[in-house]
Amino acid sequence: MNKVSIVIFILIGMYSCTPKIENVEINIIPKPLNVEKINESFTFNKRTKIVIEQGNIEYEKVALYLKNEIKDYFGYDLSIKSTNDHIHKNAIFLIHESDRKFEKEEYQLEVDTKIIKISSSAANGSFYGVQTLLQLFEVNKSEQNISFSKTIPGVKISDKPRFEWRGMHLDVCRHFYDKEFVKKYIDLLAMHKMNTFHWHLTEDQGWRIEIKKYSKLTEIGSYRSETMVDKNREEFDGQEHSDFYSQEDIKEIVQYASDRFITIVPEIEMPGHSLAALAAYPEFGCTGGPYEVSKVWGVFDDVYCAGNDKTFEFLENVLTEVIELFPGEYIHVGGDECPKAEWEECPKCQQRIKDEHLKNEFELQSYFIKRIEKFLISHNKKLIGWDEILEGGLAPEATVMSWRGSKGGIAAAKMGHDVVMSPNNECYFDHYQGKPEEEPLAIGGYTDLKDVYNYEPIPAELSSEEAKHILGAQANVWTEWIATEDHLEYMVLPRMCALSEVIWQKPENKDFEVFKSSLNKHFLRLENKGYNFKEL
Ligand code: ACM
Ligand code: ZN
Repeated sequence: MNKVSIVIFILIGMYSCTPKIENVEINIIPKPLNVEKINESFTFNKRTKIVIEQGNIEYEKVALYLKNEIKDYFGYDLSIKSTNDHIHKNAIFLIHESDRKFEKEEYQLEVDTKIIKISSSAANGSFYGVQTLLQLFEVNKSEQNISFSKTIPGVKISDKPRFEWRGMHLDVCRHFYDKEFVKKYIDLLAMHKMNTFHWHLTEDQGWRIEIKKYSKLTEIGSYRSETMVDKNREEFDGQEHSDFYSQEDIKEIVQYASDRFITIVPEIEMPGHSLAALAAYPEFGCTGGPYEVSKVWGVFDDVYCAGNDKTFEFLENVLTEVIELFPGEYIHVGGDECPKAEWEECPKCQQRIKDEHLKNEFELQSYFIKRIEKFLISHNKKLIGWDEILEGGLAPEATVMSWRGSKGGIAAAKMGHDVVMSPNNECYFDHYQGKPEEEPLAIGGYTDLKDVYNYEPIPAELSSEEAKHILGAQANVWTEWIATEDHLEYMVLPRMCALSEVIWQKPENKDFEVFKSSLNKHFLRLENKGYNFKEL
């Protein structure tokens, strides 16, 4: 063979092992900012390598995550190479651009025939690049078997999120969800490029976090003898409901979330929604009890006494342990739905109002939250609370989570405070998502997929300066009527997929019909991971 023939032979050989897949549709959720298809493709095999910069522990986390996902897809146990040379072929490079070329969560993904490159200036960006890569594998279902194509289309994708707070909440108090399920829920956030898990840990119906200094919080507060099963409150299930997370469980979950670039915001409710704590420590309520962990849902008059310094000492001790467990900057203190009836009657609370020159019980609520905020700030944490913390005056540095529509968020942003939007009409995933007669029992409301998808977190009332205070949005999942994992996943999916696009993508690039058609493939990805969802 002469030289020319050899070259032609090699070229034909290369061509024939490079399947062309121009017609493969790209349907990534949330949709990336810019996708350019190129006329090439990359095929994975068991010798494909993952390459990271030497000694970069954060990028190594990303590499390990990718390795595990590829193992799930194909059974390949890819090797991870830690090296600064870029000469490899058949490799996925997780490139750390140290010159801050990219914003914190931004990435660029390039796929050609020889290599895949995910470039970013921080490991979070790299992780989101990996999530996009994982959705480039075409997924198909045949005879109950879901499989992924080993060949992915050539692309150049540049992408970054619109908002910095992209969250999901979970109430584990009304019904408890165990450690393994919480991890599965966190995986769902990761898959949708969300970065904040708001973990609602204390309630009237159950205290779910071990506090070493106050063991009765879980011994007594995590237990209820039975639960209402009917909205008219007359029927109970007769089954004990009790469980909680040990501090070891929490550490494990915090690490699991951190490996997926997700920050956990723990919520310790006060001054209302605290019956479980009061059942364990009645001395911190206005009446002294006795109290009982609630078996029914609602808003209760029994709340922490705001006139008793011992209440604050207790809460600060609890928060001290919480702060040690959760490395994120925010602690959520609830603040919602706190009736003032007992404060009106309580001599200690009335004395506090006098001593602090407060006008009324709303200002007493404000005093309560401000006092806790001072404590949190002194421990380098930020306070976030539901929009009721605006009543009686907002604590100086508080962030507001707007749930009773957007008005609380608008007011807070106009006052120069940061805001997370989770208005009930669009972001409450405990609402019905279809005709009530065709859906499992829900708390009420109606928030369908389109309502979520069309949600715009920046209210028109805000100037562009004020709008900078809208950190992002999240959906809330209250579990009064959600008792099983399957049901919970059904309530969350696919509404959460829609929300992920709301908080990632620019509004002008959104298209509900395109999103809906992407869901068909996305459902297979969810099914492959064992999630339940509401079909279209
Ligand atoms: C809430 O839904 N009570 C915050
Ligand atoms: Zn009191």
